Amino acid sequence: MSFRPVFIAVVIGFALVIAAFLVNRQRPRVETAQPTAALVRASGKCAECHSQQQYSVVHEYELSLHARKGINCLDCHQPAQGQQRVEHKGFVIAPKLTAGNCRSCHEQIYQEFLRSRHAAPAWAAVYGQQSLTPEQVDFSERFQPGATKRPPHPFVALEGASSAQSGCAACHSVGKPNDDGTIGTCTVCHTRHTSSVAIARLPTTCGQCHMGPDHSQLEIYDESRHGVMFTAERQLLNLDAPPKTLTTRDMFVPTCATCHMSGLNGQKVTHDPSERLSYYLADAITKARPDYERAQANMQQICGQCHSSSLVKRVYTDAAKVVETTNARVQAASDIVSKLRKDGVLTTPPFTQPIDFLYFDLWHYDGRTSKHGAFMGGADFVQWHGNYPILAKTVELQAQAAELRRRHGRP
Ligand code: HEC
Ligand code: HEC
Ligand code: HEC
Ligand code: HEC
Ligand code: HEC
Ligand code: HEC
Ligand code: HEC
Ligand code: HEC
Repeated sequence: MSFRPVFIAVVIGFALVIAAFLVNRQRPRVETAQPTAALVRASGKCAECHSQQQYSVVHEYELSLHARKGINCLDCHQPAQGQQRVEHKGFVIAPKLTAGNCRSCHEQIYQEFLRSRHAAPAWAAVYGQQSLTPEQVDFSERFQPGATKRPPHPFVALEGASSAQSGCAACHSVGKPNDDGTIGTCTVCHTRHTSSVAIARLPTTCGQCHMGPDHSQLEIYDESRHGVMFTAERQLLNLDAPPKTLTTRDMFVPTCATCHMSGLNGQKVTHDPSERLSYYLADAITKARPDYERAQANMQQICGQCHSSSLVKRVYTDAAKVVETTNARVQAASDIVSKLRKDGVLTTPPFTQPIDFLYFDLWHYDGRTSKHGAFMGGADFVQWHGNYPILAKTVELQAQAAELRRRHGRP
């Protein structure tokens, strides 16, 4: 027997092992890393194909805690209760995912979210109560009185469906009612596939919606000492820290989430940011909330993890004064316009005269901005984007009112 065939057999055998190893290495990590056959079937098949179709989806998923805990593609994509079922490459998946696909494993968080203004009230603010079932309205009204039982916003009709859909609804869809009976989406803050708390804790994540002249929270934060410190020290913060054990050693500079949601140093984590709010700052005339004292104590306990109580009291006392003076100025402007209507000088429907917009901008942009700035460290917003334009617009409003009265012969 010659040595040649044995040599060839050994070489071929070795080549096969190497090839198998190389092929295996090409397979997506999720497939090979899954501990059980069932997981390989569910996750591996989706991932194998989709890493060619949309690599980034699979990659983002691989970065998630879900992947590390063995939650697979199908765990989220399978039809939840009340959802449509579609055949997809040998699997049954839901054509559209909602909060319903998360609640199966995160029911308590879903319930908290449901009580918040990020749920039904966000949608009702645009499309009114008729876009929700009576049960959904009643449920939400128990926790957020007056926020859901309301007509559609006048701008939906005035600006038209396309603008409402791509404008208002893009932000307010955080609380959109879904066909499966659930409300809202969790992925505006957590993203679809990273399911990350680090991303949810970034100011820019909240700032997707909380920005612009009518709710300048991101801009205010950016100019506040907190925002400046965040930019300076971001790489030292442990943005990934598990929420249940988050301490000021992880987050020694606050972001939006720290003040409004996190459970810093053993405080309660919440998916209902109203729990820490004592005023209705977004309203034209700001009133205290029903649970004013408890809410203020909740928030001050968060400030108190990093500050002395005297500093915190000073901020609240000063901000309460800004609320008071802003209320008085907005009320004075409102009185000018309602008196024009009462006297029969202004008889046109709302939002058809320049003076309607002048008053709306005064409270909706400048009034809100001054109040938000006062609580969140935005001096420029209290002053140059707040009280100064209120002053200027009040003068303009008086001039327009006088001109309207003159034209109507009713000075
Ligand atoms: C054999 C390849 C293959 C497999 C296996 C596969 N998919 Fe797909 N999937 C596709 C293709 C192709 C598309 C269409 C992409 C497009 O529209 O550009 C798609 C689309 C999707 C979409 C988007 C549907 C839409 O209309 O928006 C989702 C979600 C999805 N797949 C999830 C999954 C999940 C979850 C699994 C595993 C349970 C899976 N896929 C398995 C190939 C596959
Ligand atoms: C934590 C839950 C979750 C997991 C796990 C998950 N997905 Fe998704 N996926 C979503 C959500 C939510 C959407 C958005 C669907 C929608 O808007 O209807 C989505 C969307 C998609 C889309 C459509 C993307 C687009 O932009 O059009 C594809 C494709 C997809 N997923 C594939 C996968 C694959 C493959 C895996 C596993 C590697 C996976 N998903 C794991 C929740 C998940
Ligand atoms: C099949 C069950 C299951 C589903 C479905 C599911 N999750 Fe999870 N999720 C888990 C588990 C398990 C963990 C890890 C919990 C732990 O270790 O504390 C987790 C953790 C998380 C975390 C914390 C991540 C971190 O880094 O601390 C977030 C955020 C999250 N999930 C969001 C979602 C969202 C959003 C959806 C729906 C799109 C969803 N989950 C669907 C089981 C699930
Ligand atoms: C860029 C995202 C974004 C867009 C676009 C947007 N909103 Fe909002 N809206 C918000 C945020 C964020 C708040 C919360 C402000 C606060 O509490 O300070 C809000 C608050 C409101 C409120 C006051 C809260 C309440 O429930 O009374 C109403 C009403 C409202 N929006 C209606 C609309 C309408 C109608 C449109 C379209 C014409 C619209 N929004 C467009 C993000 C947006
Ligand atoms: C997809 C858009 C969107 C994102 C992202 C978003 N919000 Fe909101 N938020 C809204 C809307 C819309 C409202 C107003 C709902 C209403 O009352 O009509 C709101 C209201 C609020 C309120 C006021 C609640 C109240 O009781 O008045 C707080 C506080 C808040 N959000 C904090 C946050 C924080 C913190 C984040 C990030 C972790 C965040 N939001 C991310 C859209 C968003
Ligand atoms: C407004 C933004 C926002 C929305 C909407 C949101 N989350 Fe969160 N979520 C956060 C933030 C911020 C944290 C981290 C809080 C902290 O800093 O500890 C978090 C934490 C979590 C955690 C980890 C909690 C823990 O104790 O380990 C899970 C799980 C989670 N969210 C699931 C969900 C689910 C499910 C939904 C939808 C029902 C949802 N989230 C909607 C912002 C959001
Ligand atoms: C240092 C803590 C802190 C940080 C950081 C912070 N906020 Fe606030 N925020 C507050 C306080 C305090 C109030 C007023 C509380 C009250 O009404 O008693 C407030 C009010 C609000 C409101 C007003 C709700 C209403 O009544 O209209 C919204 C919305 C909001 N914050 C969102 C954000 C967003 C988004 C960010 C990040 C870009 C952020 N906040 C950063 C402390 C903070
Ligand atoms: C996680 C820690 C943390 C939390 C929570 C926090 N802050 Fe701060 N705050 C800081 C840091 C850090 C600075 C910067 C201090 C410096 O300049 O040395 C700061 C600065 C400030 C300043 C400016 C101080 C000055 O002398 O100019 C004010 C005012 C302030 N915070 C108010 C608040 C209020 C009100 C709350 C709660 C609503 C709050 N902070 C919550 C960490 C925090």
